[in-house]
Amino acid sequence: MLDRRRFLALSSAALGVGALAACSSGGDSGSGGDGGTDVEVFTWWAAGSEKAGLDALVKVFGEQHSDFTFVNGAVAGGAGSAAKDMLQSRLQASDPPDTFQAHAGAELQDYIDAAQIEDVSDLYDEYKLTDAFPKDLVDRLTVDGKIYSIPSNIHRSNVVWANAKVLEKAGIDAKKAPGSVDDFLADLEKAKGAGVTALSVGTTWCQVNLLEAILMSELGSEKYNGLFDGKTTWDDAAVTSSLEAFQKMMGYTNTDRDSLDWPDATQQLIDGKAAYNVMGDWAEAAFQQAKLKDGEDYTYFPLPGKEKIFGFLADSFTLPVGAPNADGAKAWLDTLSSKDGQLAFNLAKGSIPARTDVDESQFGTYSQTALKSFAEDAISPSIAHGAAVPVAWLNDLSDATSQFTTGASDLAAYQKALVAAAHKYAS
Ligand code: GAL
Repeated sequence: MLDRRRFLALSSAALGVGALAACSSGGDSGSGGDGGTDVEVFTWWAAGSEKAGLDALVKVFGEQHSDFTFVNGAVAGGAGSAAKDMLQSRLQASDPPDTFQAHAGAELQDYIDAAQIEDVSDLYDEYKLTDAFPKDLVDRLTVDGKIYSIPSNIHRSNVVWANAKVLEKAGIDAKKAPGSVDDFLADLEKAKGAGVTALSVGTTWCQVNLLEAILMSELGSEKYNGLFDGKTTWDDAAVTSSLEAFQKMMGYTNTDRDSLDWPDATQQLIDGKAAYNVMGDWAEAAFQQAKLKDGEDYTYFPLPGKEKIFGFLADSFTLPVGAPNADGAKAWLDTLSSKDGQLAFNLAKGSIPARTDVDESQFGTYSQTALKSFAEDAISPSIAHGAAVPVAWLNDLSDATSQFTTGASDLAAYQKALVAAAHKYAS
């Protein structure tokens, strides 16, 4: 079992659901109730390895709750780039799915503040979850004694993936991870010399994912975590140098980046058209699906920096207020929180279980590194994946990033926009 006491190190921005009291109708009273056998599960795991992960969970659901029928409400678009808007429209129109995917942390707080999700603490008792998850995780999902979602997994966001054969051709030692962002930039220059895309990246959210990894590396966890509670200001010199490094890295990327989602960008690495890709560890599931051999075909390392950091995010599932089939949703929450559900899902998804009592020996080489890092390293919340900032802040940050990478590349204006966003939303 993992020592997950490191969760104590999480900033309140990471998982804390803050001090704001939720105005949910409470209990199950606001849920629709007795809605038949169909259970609509809303995610953005619509295709490829993400769908394979979902399918693995659906299989366990079928075994554990054969009286219910899974209905796939997935909306395509990595990181929920399209799903979250659609979900918001549905919630505002009082047309919620039976359950939906939401990131633990600041994003979840959005739904709590809007009274769109129910307190599910009674399910923690019923399914005996309070001791199954790290206590600090449960504490930080609790607002005024109420818990609003159940985590299915933990993903790492700050991973550099590499095509080992391309690196070899470029004269880069695939077994040796660079020691700093500057060393990595030097390797990108070498990779470029080999006539491939040095660093593949996808559309805006993938670029924000890259940016957050650089910020973690350059600032270190404490300073990075302070970006979200005002302890670190976004006009800090270390943010400026991070933006400079980001600008340099973007200079090594594919020109079609803005039309690609993460699977396409990762595919460039799989196909040997790109040397590196910075992406969360759902990419591991894509490499497994493509039957790439760990160490031979691909390698990986966290983006190097001041200290070892686990870029944290967790998917969790909710019981929306007014869910047509609340009992079906609870059955889904039962499955995803069960040992069997967490094992099957996480083995297929590239993530590690949120439960601490799942048999970890079944996880592959990459996942063992994630399990170890999560237990030992500093934890920093992901920006691009709802752990660090609420949706509105992320939207401002994404707009500024997109303007910077598609427009005039004015670094000072970019930083100014990031400062303005923080002034608007930082607690
Ligand atoms: C994240 C999500 C992951 C993965 C990724 C790419 O936001 O937490 O499970 O799906 O997006 O779509």
